[in-house]
Amino acid sequence: MKALVIAVDGYASCGKSTLARDLAQTLDYRYIDSGAMYRAVTYRMLQLGLPLTESPELDQLLQTLDLKFIKSEGVNQLIINGMLLGTELRTKAVNAAVSPVSTLPSVRRAMVVLQRSYADGTGLTMDGRDIGTYVFPQADLKIFVTARPEIRAIRRQAELIALGDSTWTLDEILQNQAQRDRIDSNRDFAPLKRAEDAVDLDNSDLSREEQLAWALKWVEERGGV
Ligand code: CDP
Repeated sequence: MKALVIAVDGYASCGKSTLARDLAQTLDYRYIDSGAMYRAVTYRMLQLGLPLTESPELDQLLQTLDLKFIKSEGVNQLIINGMLLGTELRTKAVNAAVSPVSTLPSVRRAMVVLQRSYADGTGLTMDGRDIGTYVFPQADLKIFVTARPEIRAIRRQAELIALGDSTWTLDEILQNQAQRDRIDSNRDFAPLKRAEDAVDLDNSDLSREEQLAWALKWVEERGGV
């Protein structure tokens, strides 16, 4: 029995974060939301008015970037240069800009160094797009999550409403999802794709408890604790 590195990848709003978080809580592992890291960099670039391209200013931002996850009341909070970020990461502006920003090699290189540093042997679940293919190609368990687009949009809308944002129509969410999936799948550097040795989870018709139970069977199969 060992503490595993578990990679959870897939398309936008598939419930990857929920699954990765539930697994971490059940197994007492660390959970890292890699998407939040890309969102945080995007937020800072927008705040500073930087173009969404490589630039000396972006290099400077990445060099002085201080990203930390802290656990507060059981929830992982992201702190960037001393600033606690929550709903700021889910605005329309960030949703529109995050995939273009995530194509930039300088941004990916900086995030991947941080992401790898979180694997300290005590058990880790990380969700994203390239975790099983690029960040941790040797991950003990790789889960590739899919769900029907309309179901993903309905879930994301409910999540946004719970965060206090009821301005998104289902159509806007569907469009943003499709656009991000297209950019994420077609970029040159570490695109979103299913790792060959991943196990597939279509959670369209599964409850949160059912998907967790399914994943825990795979953890057991891989000798995890
Ligand atoms: O929650 P949702 O699946 O909608 O998105 P997210 O996980 O917060 O990721 C936001 C965006 O960050 C994605 O659309 C990707 O452009 C980028 N991302 C990435 O490029 N690589 C990762 N490992 C994670 C996210």
